[in-house]
Amino acid sequence: MTKPAEASLAAMLVRHFDALQNLCSDLEAIADALPASINVQASLGVAQNIMAIVKSAHEFEEQKIYPALHRFEQLNVAMNENIERLRFEHWADEDYAQEIYLALRDFILSQNRAKAETLSWMLRGFFEGMRRHIAFERVVILSVIAKSESSV
Ligand SMILES: [Fe+2]
Repeated sequence: MTKPAEASLAAMLVRHFDALQNLCSDLEAIADALPASINVQASLGVAQNIMAIVKSAHEFEEQKIYPALHRFEQLNVAMNENIERLRFEHWADEDYAQEIYLALRDFILSQNRAKAETLSWMLRGFFEGMRRHIAFERVVILSVIAKSESSV
């Protein structure tokens, strides 16, 4: 029996981007529904998955994608600087994701509507930053990975 072919790095990266984009859409829907129309059960599910989705994407990029970029783009100073900046953004986003999880869970459990505006502001800051990060990685990182794999 033959083993199924392994997905390419580019294909796996796109899957992580899609998971992050879906998370951003879910968080935007929650922010739009605050305070009265929030779906408690769905929002709790989103809150519980935030860290796993974010960490999984970051670990994949840092363990597989960035080392591959270093191999392909060894002498490219600009790319090395991009990678360092993206790593810093990952650290900040993981801290932010943890805060979102706690704030969202707290809001749902306490139903404290006075906190709705703060939570909405936090959610928007997170998913807008995440979308910018992904957009940059799609243009700058994914294109290099896809090109390098097509030339193997
Ligand atoms: Fe990233």
